[in-house]
Amino acid sequence: MGFKVNPNIKVVTRNDLCFCGSGKIYNECHKHIDKRLLEYRRRGYLVPGRKILKSKTDIEGIKESAKINISVLDYVADNIREGMSTEDINRLVHEKTLEMGGIPAPLNYEGFPKSVCTSVNAQVCHGIPSKTCILKEGDIINVDCSTIYNGYFSDSSRMFCIGNVSDENRRLVEVAKKAVYVGLEQVKPWNFLGDMGQAINDFVKSNGYSVVEEIGGHGIGLAFHEEPFVSYVTKKGTDMLMVPGMIFTIEPMVNMGRANVFMDDNNGWTVYTEDKLPSAQWELQVLVTEDGHEIISY
Ligand code: MF3
Ligand code: CO
Repeated sequence: MGFKVNPNIKVVTRNDLCFCGSGKIYNECHKHIDKRLLEYRRRGYLVPGRKILKSKTDIEGIKESAKINISVLDYVADNIREGMSTEDINRLVHEKTLEMGGIPAPLNYEGFPKSVCTSVNAQVCHGIPSKTCILKEGDIINVDCSTIYNGYFSDSSRMFCIGNVSDENRRLVEVAKKAVYVGLEQVKPWNFLGDMGQAINDFVKSNGYSVVEEIGGHGIGLAFHEEPFVSYVTKKGTDMLMVPGMIFTIEPMVNMGRANVFMDDNNGWTVYTEDKLPSAQWELQVLVTEDGHEIISY
């Protein structure tokens, strides 16, 4: 009796190199991870496909992109001030990114017209920089910066307080930042995205705020937005398994009031809180490592 070998599947033999590019042979590298993933899949859990597990070379490339991403946000931090327009911030981001050899990822992304997102007060995300939007004392603003370098993507965002900000708004900004780090504590191999989602949601709720449900984070690296979608309203022990080599963003949008949001019909981008109360968001990009995680950009 004979048998046919499926020509579409490469049979890995004992001494083949691992697909991850470590230079080690498969049996001594990803074989044990594959075995464990198969077990989880059999038990009905969502596991990441190979495509979203980054190789060593990819990780190095993404880190180079992230260096620019971090520097651009540092540059915004040094220069942002009252009286400036959000278009001025756009110029800072655009020029600094090009100066460092990068490309601003938002520009022309699905028709987005600018090089950065600037979201002020009740704007939740995807604010479009404009000459007529002038920063005034008391404003809180999210500057969301995404960078392409050598084909690799990085993405992070920070909040800035303009002049004297009310205690209420300052507390919102601080809780939104802390929420990211509460989530980060859950990022390690064989935890679930839902462990992070619930930790963030519980923390935000315990502070009297709410987390936006419709918009979340994403895998990133070889493309701007990759699998998985990363929600912060998920439950412990559910959603995708975290596996070494995954890179995704942690970017919960924290609303002072209710979680409901709506999109600006005029530009098709900018998201606002329905109750007009302020929203805050910090974003970082994280790699799942063998024994925990590493922050890639912030
Ligand atoms: N940085 C945003 C994100 O987290 C980018 C949104 S797409 C854009 O995904 F075109 F608006 F930039
Ligand atoms: Co993002």
